[in-house]
Amino acid sequence: MAKIGIFVGTVYGNALLVAEEAEPVLQAQGHEVKVFEDATLAQWQNYSRDVALIITSTTGQGDFPDTISALFHDVKDKSGHQPDLRYGVIALGDSSYENFCGAGKTFDALLQEQGAQRVGDVLLVDATENPEPESVTSPWVENWGQLL
Ligand SMILES: Cc1cc2nc3c(=O)[nH]c(=O)nc-3n(C[C@H](O)[C@H](O)[C@H](O)COP(=O)(O)O)c2cc1C
Repeated sequence: MAKIGIFVGTVYGNALLVAEEAEPVLQAQGHEVKVFEDATLAQWQNYSRDVALIITSTTGQGDFPDTISALFHDVKDKSGHQPDLRYGVIALGDSSYENFCGAGKTFDALLQEQGAQRVGDVLLVDATENPEPESVTSPWVENWGQLL
């Protein structure tokens, strides 16, 4: 069973809600799970040989919410290669914006660049189609947890 850190980027709380729904689903599969908002690089690095699940919305024009922006920049500038990290991404967004799910896609691209191993596909959640994101994310999480 895996040790999983869930790293949340949220403005209005949707991504946090998704994380709070994901936590018991993964725990029920026997994983050890912790949710982080405003995570530090040290907290991220604690999972460098384990599993990270990034759950982030997009704000501004394809930007990261404040609760995950500093972490993203620290991972980009200070982490380097991280081949032992396995990860997944749930990206919340709204297709009426130009940079649909931009933050989640950008975090995924960075981790690919750094040699981390993505488990499953990035889940893009469109707020216009899914007013209750958990109805899409919880089945995805159930499946993702089984791939670990
Ligand atoms: C001011 C503002 C800017 C946004 N910009 C984007 C964007 O560039 N791309 C996108 O896909 N969604 C964008 N969204 C949609 C949010 O990502 C979406 O509503 C999401 O569910 C919010 O989740 P949160 O409550 O965790 O922040 C924006 C929403 C607001 C209010």
